[in-house]
Amino acid sequence: MKLSKSMKMSALGEMAGGLAHEINNPLAIISGNANIIGNLISSENIDLPKIRFCLSKIDNTVDRISKTVRGLRLFSRDSDQDAMEPAKISTIIEDSLSLCQERFRAHGVEIRIRIDTDAQLECRPSQISQILINLLSNAFDAVESFEEKWVTVELASQSENIILRVIDSGKGIPSYIAEKVMDPFFTTKTTGKGTGLGLSISKGIAESHNGSLRLDGSMINTCFTLELPCKQPRFVKFKQGVA
Ligand SMILES: Nc1ncnc2c1ncn2[C@@H]1O[C@H](COP(=O)(O)OP(=O)(O)OP(=O)(O)O)[C@@H](O)[C@H]1O
Ligand SMILES: [Mg+2]
Repeated sequence: MKLSKSMKMSALGEMAGGLAHEINNPLAIISGNANIIGNLISSENIDLPKIRFCLSKIDNTVDRISKTVRGLRLFSRDSDQDAMEPAKISTIIEDSLSLCQERFRAHGVEIRIRIDTDAQLECRPSQISQILINLLSNAFDAVESFEEKWVTVELASQSENIILRVIDSGKGIPSYIAEKVMDPFFTTKTTGKGTGLGLSISKGIAESHNGSLRLDGSMINTCFTLELPCKQPRFVKFKQGVA
């Protein structure tokens, strides 16, 4: 789907500056700890616990970079032809967040995460990541200029479904805009910043997973709710009997 690709490119473009942070900050931590180890081993009394501590920091930081790279591969793969596969939804959330959390941090936007389930979801993981990145990106754009800046990602299970909510510190969307947000090419952003395709493509993806994406007007804050069935319905094929 060409539209889906152009929306991804636009999102990646916006994230690119932030991505440098996502990688450069952990690289600085690794290099700093490698230097400390270098100094420690050249001293007379080698302090093994300190060296182990630095090594574990390096290890954790390498993990962080791997997550970012995984998130990037997940988000950018051409997934239209992918088959549905079981995936842990909390991992998809973590990998997607690792693409933008430094950007949030750099602009003072607090990210709050509440994950209450380790449910497996039968899905095209790359597409679910695409929905999430767009919701996070929209939330970021909405709150960036506010005094109170936060975005909450909530994940819960309800019977056979998962409910994923992205809530931001905005106070809802005025009704004349709210009724159009899911329309293709509807955007309030300047040219080059938004294509207006994010939510309409995301809604299409949710529906192709037999789920829904909606703007939830029942809260004080702006909230988008993605609801997806953990298992995709099976279509039973009947064998035709030969008379
Ligand atoms: N969390 C939000 N708070 C306020 N307005 C929002 C929020 N999310 C979406 N909107 C509104 O809905 C419009 C459409 O969003 P959509 O994600 O479809 O496109 P876009 O963000 O403008 O561009 P694109 O996602 O293609 O880069 C946005 O331009 C904005 O006006
Ligand atoms: Mg968008």
